[in-house]
Amino acid sequence: MKTLAILGGTGKEGAGLAMRWALRGYRVLIGSRSADRAKTRATEMNRELGGDYLTGLANAEAAAAADIVILSVPYGAHQATLSGLREECAGKILVDLTVPLQPPEITQVNLPGGAAAALEAQSILGADATVVAAFQNVSAVKLKRLDQPVDCDVLVCADDPAARLDVMALVEAAGMRGIDAGALKNAVAAEALTPVLLHINKTYGVAGAGIRITGLDDT
Ligand SMILES: NC(=O)c1ccc[n+]([C@@H]2O[C@H](COP(=O)([O-])OP(=O)(O)OC[C@H]3O[C@@H](n4cnc5c(N)ncnc54)[C@H](OP(=O)(O)O)[C@@H]3O)[C@@H](O)[C@H]2O)c1
Repeated sequence: MKTLAILGGTGKEGAGLAMRWALRGYRVLIGSRSADRAKTRATEMNRELGGDYLTGLANAEAAAAADIVILSVPYGAHQATLSGLREECAGKILVDLTVPLQPPEITQVNLPGGAAAALEAQSILGADATVVAAFQNVSAVKLKRLDQPVDCDVLVCADDPAARLDVMALVEAAGMRGIDAGALKNAVAAEALTPVLLHINKTYGVAGAGIRITGLDDT
């Protein structure tokens, strides 16, 4: 089974994915700017899971030890977190689930220069890493309910079709349906959808609006 490192796995979105993957047998490393914070959060999550599943490390150590790296930090920390990790991510898939929100206007689309955080990630890491964009439209509130599948689809965008398939398998393991959504530049659409979902959450008084792709069963 592959080893996954979740940079910023101490936070809301990363923790839910970490626990779901750990329960499916992946070796999961929780990354943080602080190794102590990572260890503390891993201990807390292990207590919740009832076993010794997760290990906490500093972000760079976690990335170096992983087969697949997942980036789960706020957009404001995106560039700073990635720019020191080119070597650790070389030859690996980096799954970017960052949404470029601009607080306090989090219900309005705010794409960096009309592009996507995932495209910025590829440019920061260089061609040696394969960036895959996914999970931007999945609510952390839903991920936390470990005993339930999450009622949504996940758009998976990457320029490498094999990398898309690898990440679609991770999506399935976390309890959702992965959809091959094409090239990495299509991540613009997924990143832009999240503020729309946050607006819907606010308007309808819910915590986890998500998306479903219809028509896939048509013949
Ligand atoms: N929450 C959701 O429902 C949701 C849904 C879809 C997508 N996302 C996306 O997933 C990513 C993570 O979201 P989240 O809600 O998990 O965020 P979060 O809990 O606010 O932060 C995640 C982790 O990022 C690190 N971090 C925070 N500020 C930082 C900074 N200034 N510099 C470096 N690291 C920093 C922290 O880890 P350490 O302090 O341990 O380093 C923190 O635990 C975001 O890009 C978000 O847009 C979130």
